[in-house]
Amino acid sequence: MSSVIATTAIRGRFLDIQNTVAQARDIHDQVRYVEDGLLISQNGKIQWFGTWQDGQAHLPAQVDVQHYPDQLIVPGFIDTHIHFPQTEMMGAYGEQLLEWLNTYTFPTELQFSDPAYAKTIAEFFVHELLKNGTTTALVFCTVHPESVDALFEAASNYQMRLIAGKVMMDRHAPDDLCDTPERAYSESKALIEKWHGKGRNLYAITPRFAPTSSPEQLKRAGELKAEYPDVYVHTHLSENKSEIEWVKALFPAQKGYLDVYHHFGLTGNKSVFAHCVHLEDDEWNCMHDTDSAIAFCPTSNLFLGSGLFPLHTAWEKQVKVGLGTDIGAGTSFNQLQTIQEAYKVQQLQGNKLSAYEALYHATLGGAKALDLDQTLGNFNTGKEADFVVLDLKTTALQQLRQSRAKSLEDALFALMLMGDDRNIHATYVYGQRVYSTC
Ligand code: GUN
Ligand code: ZN
Repeated sequence: MSSVIATTAIRGRFLDIQNTVAQARDIHDQVRYVEDGLLISQNGKIQWFGTWQDGQAHLPAQVDVQHYPDQLIVPGFIDTHIHFPQTEMMGAYGEQLLEWLNTYTFPTELQFSDPAYAKTIAEFFVHELLKNGTTTALVFCTVHPESVDALFEAASNYQMRLIAGKVMMDRHAPDDLCDTPERAYSESKALIEKWHGKGRNLYAITPRFAPTSSPEQLKRAGELKAEYPDVYVHTHLSENKSEIEWVKALFPAQKGYLDVYHHFGLTGNKSVFAHCVHLEDDEWNCMHDTDSAIAFCPTSNLFLGSGLFPLHTAWEKQVKVGLGTDIGAGTSFNQLQTIQEAYKVQQLQGNKLSAYEALYHATLGGAKALDLDQTLGNFNTGKEADFVVLDLKTTALQQLRQSRAKSLEDALFALMLMGDDRNIHATYVYGQRVYSTC
């Protein structure tokens, strides 16, 4: 891994959220907009941020300033739930969760026993994230340890902050995709020792979901978490009604779906549960009490017909939420397109998702969900310098709409509702430009 020594100086219009909040209505007060700003990063961290006028005195000699006068610069997007091996199977027709897994997902994931195959897709995947302005992600690999190596190697090429892990799965899946409780434990442990905290890589213990792990395997997963309290736990929860009934039948001794994970020591402030569309009241309370987080994956929930995630309840119950694309059940890598669907999911429940709240979930709120809000998610000095340069008008239609924008919030909302990967002008990771359209 190459080390970064360069100083980078960026001038432009900057927008971020200064602090995490307890209520959606508090976000507006935390919005920071610097119309003509300067960000200086050194060795990957933000060294200085403020107005161009004040900042010039802080510019080291002979540093070129990259100026983006027409764009909008926001913190890098954070994807709190995505599967890299499912990149090639987006748009698989016609099924809901359990049939979709058997028909499309498991056959696709079988290919990742081949390290060369895993490397090809991992490199494609990481580039696709960067092309969409996503600078941090929490990622499912497959059951094969080689798939984890391939992904961390691909991310390390860009010094990207990535959290990932090997799937644990020992039943209700093809034999060649199953490990055992012992193998899941020992292979995951070896991967933690190899990758957790190496560069910007972090490890997540990754049981696929309760139906594909025996109680013995979940017990081993919990033991591993107790041995390495600093690593993450990443799994699925309450996505689909048939799935929930199945879990209740498989684990009759537990109070419900979340209680299965809680019983085995898998809840906590570094645990991220994808979906949580159909949580029961005591499950919301358990999520809150254990400080566990939810990955809200609107394009996936709509595509698989799973249901409408109640974001308002998460605020009420004070449960952390990040946005996830959930590729390959999700239908876009792009966080602007994910926000489009998040907005519609709230509309269908009679609720609003403002542009600034959406920005919060995609940046600082996502960082909080990943327990990384002290490290990244906005432009505060000392944070890691991951950011994305957005073009607000890449099409004639966007040009027309933006020319009618009544405010910054209106312009941002229009960008979110009409945008896609064409609006990602450049992506910076750890102070370095890693993707650019020009
Ligand atoms: N539940 C268990 N595995 C998966 C998966 O791969 N995708 C989704 N969306 N849900 C799951
Ligand atoms: Zn998923």
